[in-house]
Amino acid sequence: MRIAIGCDHIVTDVKDRLRDQLINQGHDVIDCGTYDNVRTHYPIYGKRVGELVSQGVVDKGIVLCGTGVGITNAAQKVYGTRVALVRDVATAKDARETYNANIIGFGGRIAGFGLIEDIVETFLTTEFDASVDNVKKVEEIDRLIDQKTYKFYEDTFDKFLDDWEKGCYVD
Ligand code: RB5
Repeated sequence: MRIAIGCDHIVTDVKDRLRDQLINQGHDVIDCGTYDNVRTHYPIYGKRVGELVSQGVVDKGIVLCGTGVGITNAAQKVYGTRVALVRDVATAKDARETYNANIIGFGGRIAGFGLIEDIVETFLTTEFDASVDNVKKVEEIDRLIDQKTYKFYEDTFDKFLDDWEKGCYVD
């Protein structure tokens, strides 16, 4: 499977370990960064993963930050993504079966690596149950964003990064 993965500087070690495992399992993985522990901003990597999924470059995406909250919110803003922030295997299964989630997110500081492996395995192997009810649910959610008016503000990150440099945020 083609998979994009992205994280912030808080959990790069977790992302690297997971990426290597997925590659060893035979997946075709695009690592969207970040690649070290230098402070950066999670929306950059959520956006990258979201765009690759949305454009069909990859089949599925995986995002993680400290809690998973920031990066899943960012990835969810890219048109065409359906992102699920999960902390257990049952939710990962439901995210695929019922909601056809195409990106999974979790907190690299919240979930242990064994649980993360199980969540990802479940996410990658569970098929969407395309019943009339589920298709309707997903279509209703997708319709909440009008593609014509959707706009992503590229310069947003400049201000975030400036503010981080100035110490406006703490990890
Ligand atoms: C980074 O400072 C931290 O806020 C981030 O990793 C994440 O937990 C946000 O949801």
